[in-house]
Amino acid sequence: MTRRLCAALFLLPLLFCALGVQAQSTAILSNKDRHHAVHAANGMVASQEARATKVGVEVLRQGGNAIDAAVAVGFTLAVTLPRAGNLGGGGFMLLHHAASAETLALDYREKAPAKAHRDLYLDSAGNVDKARARFSHQSVGVPGTVAGLIAAHRRFGTLPLAAVMAPAIVLAEQGLTVTPSLARNLGRRQRRLSKWPASAAIFYKPGGALYQAGETLVQKDLAASLRRIAATAGEDFYTGDTARAITGSMARNGGLITLADLAAYRPVWRQAVRGSYRGFQIAAMPPPSSGGVHLIQMLNMLEQFPLAKMGHNGADSLHLMAEAMKLAYADRAEHLGDPDFWSVPIKGLTSKAYARSLAASIDPDQARASAQIRHGAPAPYESNETTHYSVMDGAGNVVSNTYTLNFSFGTGIVVPGTGILLNNEMDDFSAKPGVPNAFGLVGGEANAIQGGKRPLSSMTPTIVFKDGQPLLATGSPGGSRIITMVMQILLNVIDHNLNIAEATAAPRIHHQWRPDKLWVEQGVGPDTLAILRRRGHVVTPSRAAGSVQSVMRVAKGGGFLGASDPRSPGALSAGY
Ligand code: GLY
Repeated sequence: MTRRLCAALFLLPLLFCALGVQAQSTAILSNKDRHHAVHAANGMVASQEARATKVGVEVLRQGGNAIDAAVAVGFTLAVTLPRAGNLGGGGFMLLHHAASAETLALDYREKAPAKAHRDLYLDSAGNVDKARARFSHQSVGVPGTVAGLIAAHRRFGTLPLAAVMAPAIVLAEQGLTVTPSLARNLGRRQRRLSKWPASAAIFYKPGGALYQAGETLVQKDLAASLRRIAATAGEDFYTGDTARAITGSMARNGGLITLADLAAYRPVWRQAVRGSYRGFQIAAMPPPSSGGVHLIQMLNMLEQFPLAKMGHNGADSLHLMAEAMKLAYADRAEHLGDPDFWSVPIKGLTSKAYARSLAASIDPDQARASAQIRHGAPAPYESNETTHYSVMDGAGNVVSNTYTLNFSFGTGIVVPGTGILLNNEMDDFSAKPGVPNAFGLVGGEANAIQGGKRPLSSMTPTIVFKDGQPLLATGSPGGSRIITMVMQILLNVIDHNLNIAEATAAPRIHHQWRPDKLWVEQGVGPDTLAILRRRGHVVTPSRAAGSVQSVMRVAKGGGFLGASDPRSPGALSAGY
């Protein structure tokens, strides 16, 4: 069968699906009670936006595999969750392909344009110019999302690309019903978006009035961009009309991205970083994300302690977790950067022996001040507005994908004529050693700005295996907190035997070495907090953070469980 005929055959039900997702679907299971995971027999999708989840489920139902569904969800979120879903950003996809038994990491992180340089954001006094680093055309990294999603589809997809992208195109073209969450977020970010006429024209009514929940948001230019991408398998974005629109906008506004930068962009297939935890095997994202390395490093440290016996979110276990977090984030600041430019000691940082030495330095009764912690010496190398989704299919394929524009709506800049929002991922570089980025993260030489380099990330798409079989796919947005969130999901499931929905809802903590603060969400008891304070922790109340989206295979009895974080309204786990 030709690709064109396939596309025609598959397109029809998916188009109906795109229209159908406007209404509440009753044909699929959904997790109305978030503390009970959704169960489904054949496949499951968990994402931060319900319509995107439904598109993914429909792709599975039409015979697509988890990779087809993941690519469809990725393109759909660019339409339905514009604050984080994207074409103009980048991310990381971890996938397990059942037939070839391969687990691979696809790095489609943005790259610094060739003209970028170490002191790009320093003003004449040597201080970091935050506005230029975060909200200007110079903040934009060369986007990787389109190339990444297409690369995943090309290698492992089974449905035609046109079919997989059709629902996103329909939702952009015909408009989508504004949800309360979208209305609220557009209201919150009006200043950022309205600075740019092309952005204001799409996301606000004439005169700047806000869209209300229940009204329809149409994104015609975005639909046309998606069509060009579908017709050219992504070429248009990097060398065609879209590329020229992006570089034209750069040239008019002092941006750095050139046609040569776009044409040179390639996603990279990398080996997943591997570890184990109490008999479970972990596959996670390697650099330029710091996520996988430090997830495994922290788990290795915590494996030295009987966390299950200490109890879920008891003072002893929270103390140890916080100490492990500090040690890991101190190493992050020193050792992590783009592996194509910097020798990251992955093996050393993830070795059990190194973790044992770090764990031995933890005082079980007393917090160590961050000022007393320095990065370690592992064996030499041999936004907060990101979004994550997880997909599993009945054949055993798994996708765990986190991608982002960095901040909510990125720079806020839409490229005129394209409907495409641009990232501000350049702020994830260390603009000046020791000066924190928007997430309070510090860094040095390893993550210094350089043309063609990828900024360090914390995104942590993860797959957990048991006896070689995929068991759990999980991940979250949350900037610097992503790594510790994912770690707590794993501890909650493996050590504390919580079901995946309870594991997701449970209150979380976070420490990132600097600043020396232990952030604690609501729900940890005051007596526990008092013990932590007595041990020297600078306990700091935290707003609810993250949007963990997980799918878990039911080892006994078959089928899948899905859980969407109750912290973010509008998310949905669903299967069929
Ligand atoms: N932009 C957030 C991250 O990549 O970690």
